[in-house]
Order: sequence, then C-alpha cells, then structure tokens
Amino acid sequence: MTDRPEKIENALLSYLPADDESIRTVIESMKYSLTAGGKRVRPVLVLEFARLCGGTEEAAMPFACAIEMIHTYSLIHDDLPCMDDDDMRRGKPTNHKIFGEAAAVLGGDALLTLAFETVLSEKAVRLNGFEKCALAGRLLASCAGAEGMIGGQIIDLESEGKSVAIDRLRLMDRLKTGALIKAACLLGCISAGASDEQKKAAAEYAECIGLAFQIVDDMLDVTSDEATLGKPIGSDAENDKSTYVSLLGLEKCRSLVAELTDEAVSSLSAFGGDTSFLSDFAGKLRDRRS
Ligand code: IPE
Ligand code: IPE
Ligand code: MG
Ligand code: MG
Ligand code: MG
Repeated sequence: MTDRPEKIENALLSYLPADDESIRTVIESMKYSLTAGGKRVRPVLVLEFARLCGGTEEAAMPFACAIEMIHTYSLIHDDLPCMDDDDMRRGKPTNHKIFGEAAAVLGGDALLTLAFETVLSEKAVRLNGFEKCALAGRLLASCAGAEGMIGGQIIDLESEGKSVAIDRLRLMDRLKTGALIKAACLLGCISAGASDEQKKAAAEYAECIGLAFQIVDDMLDVTSDEATLGKPIGSDAENDKSTYVSLLGLEKCRSLVAELTDEAVSSLSAFGGDTSFLSDFAGKLRDRRS
C-alpha cells in the first residue's frame, strides 16, 4: 500500500497522450499539473475501497486515474484569474503562470475528457467489463458536473463578499469537494462489484470525510504557511470567500472536523474486512498540515 502514490503516478503518465510536436503545449500543460505532486487522496480512496470490497488494484487503477485527472483539471481552473486567481499550487507556479491562461483552460479541458477516455479504455473494459465502466463513467460525469463539483464552484464564486447561511455553505462544500471524494469511494466499490450495503457505508464515510476535508482546507488557508501548504495562504480572505472558518471561527471548525471524522470511522463498522487503513486515513486528513 505504501507504494500506491508511485503506482498512481506511473499509471497517470501511461494515460497521457504520447509526445507529439504539433500538440506539445497542451500535453505539457496536462502533464505539468498531473505530476506536480498532489496528495492523491481521491485515487487512494478508489484503490482502498476496491481492496476492501474484494476487487483488484489493477482493475480499479483506471478509475483512480480518472478521478485524479478530473480533480487536477478542477484545480487548474480554480486557480485561474477569473476564479481564485492563485499563483502557487502543489509547491509550484500555477498552470496558467507557466503556460498562459488559454493553455491552462485547454489543459484542464483535456484532462477532463481524458478521464472519460480512461474509464472507457480498452484496459479498463478488459479488467472491469463494459457495465462497470459505464457505471463509473456515469458517476464521474454526475460528480463533476453542474449538480456536483461545478455546482459547488459556482456557489463559491457567487458567495464572495456575502454573508451566507450555514446550509448554503454545507451545500457548497458537499458539491465542490464532497462530490469528487464520494465518487472516489464509490468508484472503488463499483470496480470491486460491492453490495448495496457496502456502497451505502462507503457513501456515509465519504460524506463525512468530504465535508471535513473542505473545512480543514479552509482552516489551513488561515493557519498554515505557503511553504508547507504548497499554495498561497490567505487566498480566501483576499477573495472575500464565505467559508466555515469565516462563518463559525476556527475553534468551532476544529470540533466539527473531529465529530465528522468520528462519524466517518463509525460508518466503517458496516464492512466485514480490515478497515484500519480507512480509519487511519480519516484521522490523517483531520490532522493534515497540507
Ligand atoms: C484541494 O484538494 C482542493 C480541495 C478540494 C480542497 P487537495 O488538498 O486534495 O489537493 P492536492 O491534490 O493534494 O494538491
Ligand atoms: C475547492 O476549493 C476547489 C475545487 C473544487 C477545485 P478551494 O478553492 O478552497 O481549493 P484550494 O484551496 O484553491 O485548493
Ligand atoms: Mg476555489
Ligand atoms: Mg482555490
Ligand atoms: Mg481552499
């Protein structure tokens, strides 16, 4: 399990288009952000839920790569001047700072489409069968679209400079961050052919860690430093963002994250197998510094 990040990185690279001089800029833009050293939270969740539900790492890997491609595209666009306007990401200059805005938009678009090519690839179909690949594709489309991550991003942008009710913030975070994290857990279940009860428990775990993950992200924007975080701090305040931190304060956020983490761990009791990785993982996400 400890070699997962390396395996994920190699698999991601294998799905990138082969070097071709005529389209090199967009390939370089995709590769730059994909290999910039993210934490790989979502692909690890795919692989671990697949293992827990009796699947194989090999079969789940295309699904793991697909969700990481969509996540990476969402970050490239999130950093653009028309959105959060941030200059650093994963410890490096943001994509548009290197390639310019047009190539950043296109690199992001290309990663989004590559995700679907990947879940429908010959390899993914050979290892999972058409039906699971179709289910995975449908889930990816819905978690990434207007009723998922994109919906959360528009609420985020439209909430700038406003005082927003807690329910709206919850919806925003459930969509912009929770949707992809939930999809990651369920993609692992799909690849493994998990039961409905297993999927339900996976969804419960995901909903708790998903919300906690965004609250911690908002806390780190206030409490961390750029060298540790790999992205600028104070970005939310600068953009007058509405976050759990701006609404409730750090202390309340800390206890909320602790409660959500405990709830996530409790939901794992529905699984028969060894859930220690996932309970440790929830704790690590709660305590993370970047
Ligand atoms: C950052 O996600 C954006 C949010 C959804 C909060 P991550 O913290 O998973 O970013 P990387 O992939 O490790 O860079
Ligand atoms: C989550 O929100 C971003 C996406 C869903 C892409 P943030 O805007 O807070 O993410 P960071 O802090 O820039 O990584
Ligand atoms: Mg944002
Ligand atoms: Mg941002
Ligand atoms: Mg943030």
